[in-house]
Amino acid sequence: MLKNINPTHTQAWKDLTAHYEDAQDLQLSDLFANDSERFAKFSATFGSDILLDYSKNLITEETLTKLFALAEQTELKAAIAEMFSGEKINKTEDRAVLHSALRNRSNTSVVVDGEDVMPKVNAVLEKMKAFTARIVDGDWKGYTGQEITDVVNIGIGGSDLGPYMVSEALVPYKTRLNMHFVSNVDGTHIAETLKDLNPETTLFLIASKTFTTQETMTNAHSARDWFLATAQDQAHVAKHFAALSTNAGSVSEFGIDTDNMFEFWDWVGGRYSLCSAIGLSICLSIGFDNFVELLDGAHEMDLHFAQAPLEENLPVILALIGIWYNNFHGAESEAILPYDQYLHRFAAYFQQGNMESNGKCVDRGGNPVDYQTGPIIWGEPGTNGQHAFYQLIHQGTKLIPCDFIAPSISHNPLTDHHPKLMANFFAQTEALAFGKTKEQVEAEFVAAGKTLDEVKDLVPFKVFDGNRPTNSILIKQVTPKVLGSLMALYEQKIFTQGVIWNIFSFDQWGVELGKQLANQILPELNNADSITGHDSSTNGLINAFKQWRK
Ligand code: F6P
Repeated sequence: MLKNINPTHTQAWKDLTAHYEDAQDLQLSDLFANDSERFAKFSATFGSDILLDYSKNLITEETLTKLFALAEQTELKAAIAEMFSGEKINKTEDRAVLHSALRNRSNTSVVVDGEDVMPKVNAVLEKMKAFTARIVDGDWKGYTGQEITDVVNIGIGGSDLGPYMVSEALVPYKTRLNMHFVSNVDGTHIAETLKDLNPETTLFLIASKTFTTQETMTNAHSARDWFLATAQDQAHVAKHFAALSTNAGSVSEFGIDTDNMFEFWDWVGGRYSLCSAIGLSICLSIGFDNFVELLDGAHEMDLHFAQAPLEENLPVILALIGIWYNNFHGAESEAILPYDQYLHRFAAYFQQGNMESNGKCVDRGGNPVDYQTGPIIWGEPGTNGQHAFYQLIHQGTKLIPCDFIAPSISHNPLTDHHPKLMANFFAQTEALAFGKTKEQVEAEFVAAGKTLDEVKDLVPFKVFDGNRPTNSILIKQVTPKVLGSLMALYEQKIFTQGVIWNIFSFDQWGVELGKQLANQILPELNNADSITGHDSSTNGLINAFKQWRK
């Protein structure tokens, strides 16, 4: 069981608080000027495809030593071992946390409640493999004997963001199938998706761990209605609907043949489920062998996380640097900025991964925390972000630590696009770190033929303070394997931070209240009565809505 250790009561936290008094004035320009080995000291490679450069952070060796002590004193190593061994560390739901077992390519046994889960994991993978082959090869025929051309994954949250992120990231590995992802309960999403599809050649994957999620079930019913409007016969559903779920009862109640059900288990958290049956859309999108490569990459990172000493452990290093900014520098958010258009959903995926996991204010002892926990995660691909929100990162009043991610090899090496993209990638972290001094701004004006007197009012606006921290994650290429490792890197970073913050990272009770209230409000929208049972704001809004629809 994960221990209940208040991190702020550790000696390491006190040491870090004292250290921050001096360290808050660190200047990246000085740190680099005074140490020609800084890059070598504060960077690490993972395999031959991933380079993490964390040298442009407001840290010294002393900072890191104290952060590693924090990890030791909050018993991170024991927590890692407990997670991998199948202990029920998700205490509030009484569940193990074993997304690592889904990609345990070493196939070592992983025991939950006395049972090795690996045979079940492997059996579902085999079933996914066979199904993928039949669909992709065109052996699986729709109810009129035609091949499947389009696959619609219907799911939300972890049953959408992960598979969608990976399918988009790995488009260069695409099979012949056209993939579609429908998540929003707004009817526009499914209506627009179905407009151009043919029921005779469309396969729906209903992806829901619980098979009760309102959005997904509403979309699933609309998809079935749309299909049956043409197919007419309920018996044809078996050829066009499959379910990815833990809930066999509700799957068969919906009318999906349980032969077409791909199972996973309660020890797979929704936002950690893309390596489970929830990844069937990924298999169809990029082929089963590439899906296995993704699992391989994730497994390699899991092994590294489980085995490497803290000082060399990439998820741990990223987590500790994040804690340094979050808890000592007072940073409120972190940006994830992939310089790769294929990774355009990467930040959105880890927005859920991080914020649903570590957006908690009660500690493992059930008491309110009196320190900061999970940061706000956001981001968009570069270079688009540069022309939208980077102004605030460069010259705003907020500290926003950023992760820059980019591949050295593009899947689309058109003319000089990639060197231009990468020049921006390198330039941004340099600009953020070192800025531009008043003297440099003045020298530029002078070189352009201006006098200092002429430009003195303009100079302050053109100065960049710099000293804004970044991590750079340079990868060789966005391949299934590298993406798997990258994904596990962030997942295990989130785990590490949750352990140190003494919170439970694998429940999400905070999303329940809104769901409950929506269920209460729904019937109120469908009658003619004036609503009085809520606060005046909610009553007023509901009544205005009803008035407009009369
Ligand atoms: O409401 C939050 C949540 O439970 C997420 O954790 C999950 O990823 C999503 O809803 C979808 O849940 P399900 O897969 O059960 O439909």
